[in-house]
This record gives sequence, structure tokens and C-alpha cells, in this order.
Amino acid sequence: MKQLQGAPWLLAHRSMLQPNQPMKFSLLGNNYVVWQNSYGGINALPNACPHMGAMLSEGWCVTKPDGSSVIACPFHALEFDAEGCTVLPSSHKLTKSLMQPLELVIQGDFVWTYGGHEPKISIPNIMNEIAADYEFIGVTGERSIRTDILSLLLNMHDYNHQNGTHRELFEITEVQVKQFIDEGLHCHAYLTQPRKQPTFRKMFKNPGQLAMPKVLEAHLENFFPFMGLMHGENKLLSLKECHFYLPETEHQSRMFVLMYMKAHSPIAHLIKGNLLKLIDVVVDQDAIVLSKIYANTPKRIKLNNEVGMDWVRRNFKSFPAITEPNLSQ
Ligand code: FES
Ligand SMILES: [Fe+2]
Repeated sequence: MKQLQGAPWLLAHRSMLQPNQPMKFSLLGNNYVVWQNSYGGINALPNACPHMGAMLSEGWCVTKPDGSSVIACPFHALEFDAEGCTVLPSSHKLTKSLMQPLELVIQGDFVWTYGGHEPKISIPNIMNEIAADYEFIGVTGERSIRTDILSLLLNMHDYNHQNGTHRELFEITEVQVKQFIDEGLHCHAYLTQPRKQPTFRKMFKNPGQLAMPKVLEAHLENFFPFMGLMHGENKLLSLKECHFYLPETEHQSRMFVLMYMKAHSPIAHLIKGNLLKLIDVVVDQDAIVLSKIYANTPKRIKLNNEVGMDWVRRNFKSFPAITEPNLSQ
């Protein structure tokens, strides 16, 4: 799959990997098995067993005396170490590597990878800064969506879809893009979104709404193509809502959201669970719309505030080169 090669992708947050539990991940058309040993070491191999192609992610982990763990194939129980070597029952000695491990860049709890391609852009430090300074609330909104990565990115940088896709949730009456700072593959968008006040019934049903004021002031910071951050500030808490996007195949994409906060009031701790649920509902609504779009429909209408999508289209076309914004688009 020749798309966006050389971008870093956040494969997972450590909390998404149960120790000694093999997991399957897809990236850029390839499938991998990823596992974490009891000491926090994380490894990844192609998911197809080099014997007869069984999915290694369906197998199990075997812990070795040195604490490392190997992956056992579910078909004939051959065990593969992190380098893709095995010991054949007949020989009692380690084979050469039979699979090319997927190179991972582990930064604290963040499992990054370039999907085996030569890095073209670097991994920003911002997640490490957030992790050092904020409390991790959890992972939410993890979905594998039947859509290509461009459509997913367009949706995530579309400032007009709140009233369609998320109409009942936010009840935004207007979107104003106050400022858009275009720095090539990195950008900031400052949005002001006045909204109808939720009724008490709605607040009761979803106390996460308490964290949403009458006017939603959003600061979005985006890193093309793999990440978008929402910096949220209000009386109760400072929130960092970190969205990650990954192309699984040409027609399938994955996303998930890591949530961090700094509490300014004890109430913030009471609504953590609701915040995770709220974002899960938001992503669900996006996933539903994305799975119901006719691909390749000629675009004959342009709305105001599509500057985020213009940024996505331009970068998608020229990646990894950085081109000047074309404001006449
Ligand atoms: S298919 Fe994996 S050991 Fe045979
Ligand atoms: Fe959305």
C-alpha cells in the first residue's frame, strides 16, 4: 500500500496491550502480531506464521526464564522469538530469522512505528510532554472503520459536521474559525462554537456535558497525517484529547483517542468515565457517517470553514513534501 509512507503512526498506548497477550494490528496493508512481556518489553512480528500461515495473533505467549516472551503459533505450536527465530523440534537449535520484525519506537507508554518504511518526518515530542504533565484518563473511541485514511482525516478536520453527524450531542448553533495557523504538516485551528444549553434531563443522562460550556472554544492542534489534539480548558479541568489515525488497508482505517487531564476541581474526577463515554459516542457517530459515504463523488459545493480539510487535501497530495497553502482552493 503506497500511501503516506514515512509517517510515524501510534500503533497503541501501552495500556492497550495486556502483558503476554498477543494482539493483531494492521498497518499499511500488512498484519502484525504485537505482544508485551512481563517486563514491559514490546515486540512485533508479521502475523503470518512462516510454516503454514496461521495467524500468530491467535496463538499465545510463553515466558522464558530471562523474562522475555516468545509467541507460540496456534497451529503447530512453533515458538518464535522477537527476531522471528524458532527452534525446530528435530534440530534443537535456533533457526535464522524467518520473519522481519516490525521496528517499533517505544517512548514511555507510546508505541510508535513507521510501518517498516524509512522515516520521512519525526515523531513530535508533544505526547511525552502531555504524559509527563497530565493524568492519563484512558483510551476511548477505538474503531476500525471501513473507510480510506483520506476520508477519515477529512472528517476529523471538518469543522462543519457537528450539526449533521453530532447534532444531538453538541447542539452547536454556529462555527467560527477564529484563526488557522498553517505550518505545513502542522497546524493550529482556533474555533468558537456557540451552542444551545443542554436541558437538565440531558445533563443527567450525560454528566460529561457539564464539562461543556455555552460557547465551545476549541484549540485544535494537528500533525499530518497521524494525530490531532484538542486542547480543552474550562473551570473544571484542562483536557488533552489526543486522536490518532492509522491506515490499516486502502479501505480500512483505525482511530483511537487517548485522554489526559489536569483537574481544577474534584468534580473533574467524577466525570472522567463520562468523558470517555462521550468521546466514544462522538467517534461512533463519525464512524457511522464515514461508512455511508459514496466514494469519489465529485465535490460541487464548498462551505465556509473548510480550511482544515483544505490543509488535509494539500498535505495528502504532496506528502511528505511541504507545499505552500493555496488559499484560492
Ligand atoms: S502454521 Fe505455525 S507452526 Fe505451523
Ligand atoms: Fe466528528
